[in-house]
Amino acid sequence: MPVNAANLSILHYPEKALRTPAKAIPKASAETRQIAERMIELMYEAEGIGLAAPQVGLSIALFVLDVPKGDKNSPESDPPSATSDAMVFINPKLTSFEGAPEPYEEGCLSLPDIRGDVLRPPIVTVQALDIDNKPFTLRASGLLARCIQHEFDHLQGVLILDKMTQMSRLKNRTAVRDLEREGSQKK
Ligand code: NI
Repeated sequence: MPVNAANLSILHYPEKALRTPAKAIPKASAETRQIAERMIELMYEAEGIGLAAPQVGLSIALFVLDVPKGDKNSPESDPPSATSDAMVFINPKLTSFEGAPEPYEEGCLSLPDIRGDVLRPPIVTVQALDIDNKPFTLRASGLLARCIQHEFDHLQGVLILDKMTQMSRLKNRTAVRDLEREGSQKK
């Protein structure tokens, strides 16, 4: 079924699409490009640094990100911890993890008002296809490594709710319940 990219919007937990594992994209098409472009637009509008296709209701293995340069993050560091522009990842695979997992407070555009500490390895290598179907490999650190792992989780139907520390889980209990209530009212 063709997707009208203009109609895509960011879905909130507990929307079912967020829990549906994504399927590989056989070959990126003009439609895939429109979807990616729309997702980048939605990500910027929401002031996010990453967005995965399940978050817009599509169970396809695609995410976009744009991690801005900051005090600690730079596209020039080795390995890079930020991007110099928006990037598209199609059919990504995480091929190696380096370093002991570190906690860092994460948020998610599908989980408004929720922030929690998630433990993740500080360096990750990802292999993916770009929007022109060209394979690339990226070894990333810092916020970029974290964002890649967060978006990759979305493609498996995994949310930060599943990975956050017990303390963060307790702290966000009410916010999670509120989202679940809003979700059931929409039905
Ligand atoms: Ni997210």
